[in-house]
Amino acid sequence: MGTEVVVEGLTMSFGTQNIWQDVSLTLPAGEVSVMLGPSGTGKTVFLKSVIGLLKPERGRVLINGVDMVNSPEREIYETRKLFGLMFQDGALFGSMSLFDNVAFPLREHTRKKESEIRRIVMERMDMVGLVGAEQKLPGEISGGMRKRAGLARALVLDPQIILCDEPDSGLDPVRTAYLSQLLIDLNAQIDATMLIVTHNLDIAATVPDNMGMLFRRRLVTFGPREVLLTSDEPVVAQFLSGRREGPIGMSEEKDAATLAREQRTAPAYAPRTPAPQLEPSPGLPPRAAVQRRRERVLGMLPRLPEAARAAILQSYAPAGPIGGTAS
Ligand SMILES: Nc1ncnc2c1ncn2[C@@H]1O[C@H](COP(=O)(O)OP(=O)(O)O)[C@@H](O)[C@H]1O
Ligand SMILES: [Mg+2]
Repeated sequence: MGTEVVVEGLTMSFGTQNIWQDVSLTLPAGEVSVMLGPSGTGKTVFLKSVIGLLKPERGRVLINGVDMVNSPEREIYETRKLFGLMFQDGALFGSMSLFDNVAFPLREHTRKKESEIRRIVMERMDMVGLVGAEQKLPGEISGGMRKRAGLARALVLDPQIILCDEPDSGLDPVRTAYLSQLLIDLNAQIDATMLIVTHNLDIAATVPDNMGMLFRRRLVTFGPREVLLTSDEPVVAQFLSGRREGPIGMSEEKDAATLAREQRTAPAYAPRTPAPQLEPSPGLPPRAAVQRRRERVLGMLPRLPEAARAAILQSYAPAGPIGGTAS
């Protein structure tokens, strides 16, 4: 089962440039979470801080009692082995076959025999639908296949926590839909805690159990998916509807006069009922996190905004005549 990640009061700066401050959130064990935010808000920096590759100036990241910010480097190094990382561009070695790329962490970090490595690599290639492409070079395949190879590589060390940095970048909508399903299927198969950084609204709307958003050096909110999806907070609503009108501008932040002018002319944003969350593909086990999440979320219901509460209750209501229960 996946491992819980607790982030407390994390603040990060490079020199005098503050990236974000006082970020606190919990990635519940085995659940899928998405972090949204305009470009340059420090989402990649956040992922790197969670695995202890960057050192925030304040705060803690607790995983099994190890603080990825302040614990001794040895403990951080050991804990980092729990992670699988999928980078923005797949980050494959161009001169190596997909097989060798996926096998790389096993050859680097374990003493497994080549026959065992082959078994694990082929199993992971199968999970991401790449069987038959093992001998191809990264340059010979599509962007979507490269992403999936990057994901297979992130999976070979049996991670308990998976971090994906913009797994959809450069993919068309159809391939993004396949990727969304793949992420849910993976979660059903390995029950890892997952954090996905993305701009993609379809992934945000259909994949995660929980969602947060970084904006203006703050975590706007983090919680059950329904909280963000029904939020009337201007920055969240603008981001989720992909509109130009709102606090997010070309240079990230607009001036007050522009905002006021827009507010007089733009139609009001009406949050819609959240789309149902994706279910694992037929034949796969149910996601173990679903039951845990239900208890957790129902327990926090009294503290949630009205619209989120209604959406959650609706999603947990017995299935109607059409479709199943969304979790
Ligand atoms: N190693 C670094 N040194 C200095 N500044 C950095 C470093 N890494 C990222 N930054 C700065 O941090 C900010 C956030 O970057 P990033 O996390 O890549 O944003 P996002 O992933 O949300 O698009 C940017 O202004 C970037 O220039
Ligand atoms: Mg980034």
